[in-house]
Amino acid sequence: MSHSISTPVPEPSAPGRGHAVGATAGQWPEKKPIWPDRRLVDLLGIEHPLVLAPMAGLGTVELAASVCAGGGLGSLGCVGLPPERVTQAVDKLRTLTDKPINTNFFCHNATRADPAREANWRDRLAPYYNELRLDPSLAASQSEILPFDDALCRVVERVKPEIVSFHFGLPEPTLLARVKAAGCRVMGSATTVAEARWLEARGADVIIAQGCEAGGHRGMFLAANLEEEAASQPSTLALVPQIADAVGVPIIAAGGIADGRGIAAAFALGAAGVQIGTAYLSVQRRRFRRSVVTRCGRRVRTRRY
Ligand SMILES: Cc1cc2nc3c(=O)[nH]c(=O)nc-3n(C[C@H](O)[C@H](O)[C@H](O)COP(=O)(O)O)c2cc1C
Repeated sequence: MSHSISTPVPEPSAPGRGHAVGATAGQWPEKKPIWPDRRLVDLLGIEHPLVLAPMAGLGTVELAASVCAGGGLGSLGCVGLPPERVTQAVDKLRTLTDKPINTNFFCHNATRADPAREANWRDRLAPYYNELRLDPSLAASQSEILPFDDALCRVVERVKPEIVSFHFGLPEPTLLARVKAAGCRVMGSATTVAEARWLEARGADVIIAQGCEAGGHRGMFLAANLEEEAASQPSTLALVPQIADAVGVPIIAAGGIADGRGIAAAFALGAAGVQIGTAYLSVQRRRFRRSVVTRCGRRVRTRRY
């Protein structure tokens, strides 16, 4: 981290709450520093409060392993993987690291395939495909993405990742109880204070405060009007202090954080860790480009990737 904060910050009145500015030391009976806030690293058993964002389809086992090796939390985005592939990915990661790992799943309401609707939009888009001389069959629908279910829960019970994170809420209580009984810490994503309170009330150990800058899926799950609420979703640095004041569990800030200044800002606002996705993709791309160069058997000096 190139920028760090070492100055002690006034402690809150209760763990995770009331990061008020301007009060005198006498008003806070309990001495608990906000920075550094070790609640997350202690809870998850990691060295640095930094989580590789799970990125289904783009994150790799090797990337997760290197974040673990660096002392952060490596995550596997398991969304869209059948149970046997989740097992394979975890087994492979376990061969590369003996540090705690995170597996991530979605808890969305699955949409069922509707052939008539599919046919309609294909017909509607057909002229554009023709105009661009593309084969309309290229628009084949993706395989159905299933929410966390009994089969995936059985994998979790078998492979026992130290941490399981969920997007779009939490699984139904019986599944969640099984995940916890397997010894996993549970993290859930919130895009609003209401979602954070919902997650905490249902047993999340950690809340990921996902601001509107976050890449990938926007994890809204309580919005009555998705379009309206998506348009007014708070940014990360506005959301983190609101959630930190509303719940007692540790908060991870996610969205638009890419360097030490962002990490320090998130901590100053009440986060106990950060989750970074997009910034890691460029690292991965550089590694990929390097490996291509190496495999080509040519020594090439590159200035850009
Ligand atoms: C390409 C991509 C894929 C993502 N896929 C997932 C996912 O499968 N599960 C999940 O919980 N979050 C996913 N996210 C969101 C991240 O967890 C996190 O909120 C986000 O990356 C943080 O913002 P940043 O990308 O600006 O660092 C994804 C993000 C990206 C960029």
